[in-house]
Amino acid sequence: MESHLRAIQNEGKIDLTYLTLVSKNALFFMSQDRHLELRNKVLKHIGPAKMKKWEQIIDQIINEQINSITETTSVDLIKQFTYPLYRKATQRLLGVNSSNPENFEYWVTRLQELLEPLLPIRTLKQMEVAFKDLIIQLKAGNSLKEEINENPPSLLSELLNWNNPKFNQDDIFSAVLVLYGASINVSQTLANIIYHLLSAPNSIRESASDPKWVKNNLEYLIKIGASPKYVHRIATKDQKFGEYFIAEKDNVLLDLPAIHSNGCPYQNSEKWEENILQKKFHLAFGQGIHYCVGAGYSRFIIRKAIPVLFNKFKNIDLQSKTPDLGNLNQAVSLNSLFVTFKNI
Ligand code: HEM
Repeated sequence: MESHLRAIQNEGKIDLTYLTLVSKNALFFMSQDRHLELRNKVLKHIGPAKMKKWEQIIDQIINEQINSITETTSVDLIKQFTYPLYRKATQRLLGVNSSNPENFEYWVTRLQELLEPLLPIRTLKQMEVAFKDLIIQLKAGNSLKEEINENPPSLLSELLNWNNPKFNQDDIFSAVLVLYGASINVSQTLANIIYHLLSAPNSIRESASDPKWVKNNLEYLIKIGASPKYVHRIATKDQKFGEYFIAEKDNVLLDLPAIHSNGCPYQNSEKWEENILQKKFHLAFGQGIHYCVGAGYSRFIIRKAIPVLFNKFKNIDLQSKTPDLGNLNQAVSLNSLFVTFKNI
């Protein structure tokens, strides 16, 4: 990606300094030693083995968020639960503070676009301005931060103290920005899962308040709710898969909803009983060397948040069975998730 952007920059005589900086430090596009070193460092602080350390903070944020919801006529669970939960917990985990939070959040939600190959030049120019702004805000937010004794320290603090000559300060801020942008999947996936559970047969839906049931069925829930639409790869050799022939250097797009659900994931609600105990294998977090570094954290927060929601509100119902689908090219996501409260 980095060399691709440099080529566009030189050919098109446009300045893509920040876009190149962000791509250079986006684990998705990195390779070899630099990739592995950053990956391992990130996993060392926020990997699955570290979640116990974060449990108290995550529990507290989930509880604060759930307690802020009052039973009015209808509530948008994305606006009032999944999104603020993702934002607060992930900002604390990664150490993200911004000097202009509203503008920051807007552009961060558009980071997913960068993953799309072959973007038009005008979008690249827009992204350059946005990334420049985001990095400046992130740095300013970090310097404004009060000197408190963070326990556990955020990922940003750990990375800034890293002393690895391959990563300067700009590289570190860029890497953290990408991680934060990638984390929006937590809000989208959690919202999708809640939608599926609210559409499920009663027996399944009632189980959602049981932490043990959620833990045991987490992989299935993630499989049907995962928000990423595609995994992109460039084929490194000629290969045949069944009836498909893929030539070296072909741009290969793995369509995750097609692989997981044979189509639109929002239409699979009747298949729960037969599927719940099987087909747990999925590609929701990718596979291999680029396997999601946020998978442990995502599993942890999703597994914790679902029973808290379904315990507190045993009486919620979807306001409409028709999902309010978003139109993001890269994510299966909902714009809103309105629920109403039954009198029980
Ligand atoms: C439910 C939530 C999430 C889902 C479904 C998800 C999904 C994915 C998928 C499918 C990939 C593989 C992409 C590829 O191979 O091209 C991936 C990689 C990645 N994810 Fe996630 N993700 C989630 C949460 C997160 C979070 C919370 C973070 C950050 C803390 C994150 C950061 C990343 C990064 C940096 C990579 C690239 C890793 C590498 O290339 O070494 N993700 N994710």
